[in-house]
Amino acid sequence: MVGFMTEHVPGDEARVPQRRNLVTEIPGPVSRELYARRERAVARGVSHVLPVFVTDAGGGVIVDADGNSLIDFGSGIAVVSVGNAAPRVSARVAEQVARFTHTCFMVTPYEGYVEVCEELGRRTPGTHEKRSALFNSGAEAVENAVKIARHATGRQAVVAFDHAYHGRTNLTMALTAKNMPYKDKFGPFAGEVYRMPMAYPLRWPGGRENCAAEALAMVKSLIHTQVGEDNVAAVLIEPIQGEGGFVVPPDGFLPGLAEFCRENGIVFIADEIQTGFCRTGDWFACEHEGVVPDLVTTAKGIAGGLPLAAVTGRADLMDAVHAGGLGGTFGGNPVACAAALGAIETMAAEDLAGRARRIGEIMLPRLHGLAEKYPVIADVRGRGAMLAIEMTKPGTLDPDPVTTDAVARACHQAGLVALTCGTHRNVIRFLPPLVIGEDLLDEGLTILEDAFAAV
Ligand SMILES: Cc1ncc(COP(=O)(O)O)c(C=O)c1O
Repeated sequence: MVGFMTEHVPGDEARVPQRRNLVTEIPGPVSRELYARRERAVARGVSHVLPVFVTDAGGGVIVDADGNSLIDFGSGIAVVSVGNAAPRVSARVAEQVARFTHTCFMVTPYEGYVEVCEELGRRTPGTHEKRSALFNSGAEAVENAVKIARHATGRQAVVAFDHAYHGRTNLTMALTAKNMPYKDKFGPFAGEVYRMPMAYPLRWPGGRENCAAEALAMVKSLIHTQVGEDNVAAVLIEPIQGEGGFVVPPDGFLPGLAEFCRENGIVFIADEIQTGFCRTGDWFACEHEGVVPDLVTTAKGIAGGLPLAAVTGRADLMDAVHAGGLGGTFGGNPVACAAALGAIETMAAEDLAGRARRIGEIMLPRLHGLAEKYPVIADVRGRGAMLAIEMTKPGTLDPDPVTTDAVARACHQAGLVALTCGTHRNVIRFLPPLVIGEDLLDEGLTILEDAFAAV
């Protein structure tokens, strides 16, 4: 196989050549000049991983203002899974934008919104009757899932986990675990949020083999003693944690949690904003263990880069909310809906879930090879095209954010967009577009290997 991209979307290959090409240092002089302008106009709180200013992007390549072509292992944080400016997305957006750009679905509806909700009903786990509502961002979807769960149950408490990330709005800051940079001095936060230990195999005190059972028992006991099952509206969890470090709960933990929720009338909300839409090798990460959530939140990969988010779930819960209780001016914008239909069509037509699995098959042996060579790598984890390595001081669990940062920077200098994450900033995560060519994937991994050799 030569590469995914060239076989499936020949038009895009011509538009943005699928190869790395550095013609200046990173960032180059044009990007540096733009950065100086940015500093005078844009708030400091909005920061960058890699300050190269983008002029073009397609497939697995990002082109900057200096003419450098970089390999993309970040997908704009798990968004452009179908590739940047994916042909089906671009075509549908162009067609829609020429007809109408906004009416507000709450004023005069349009078919695209309904079609996206139909797709969500079909694609999310479970064959039960479902409804969806569309929003603009992941945080907004999470806020609305909590609103729906509270309204439907008449209860208030929400359970979230250590290392969780659910967004930057007031309620989602409360649900997010990590202080810096997400919460520091932004309080007071929304109430009735209870934090539970996460089943984190590498760091579970009782060892990996006991992690699922012990974590589950601890969560149940803490909910019972500190909150009371009858007070809990929802348990909210990322099936694989994103910003918190790509923590993969061991088999059994998610099904056990879902069962506990079912037994106690608690709404089980899967936050699939980062894991959803084929990223982990299934349409949704919950499918891996046959977990059927009551509500699912989605965003990121749903619309090939346009802002769209959704809550999808059991019809009885979703329809418990009175007319006018959900919505927003821009939620389910027609152009974003057109993009989502193009993205979903691409995922189905090109079997991007299968490609995510293939990416995992290619990347995992190389990452395990690195771990054997460099004892600073304490863990290799993830599923499909959502993979990570965690760095610690060799032989300990003490996080090593310094080496993590040095490796990421070396990758950037060599033209590979690599992202870090983790509560202790000691995880490098890999989220390549699912359409990336195998040659680019290979080259990106070689850059990573060289980065480890250099630091
Ligand atoms: C699991 C998860 N939930 C929620 C969010 C928030 O999404 P947004 O940035 O679109 O508000 C993110 C974003 O990284 C996420 O990964």
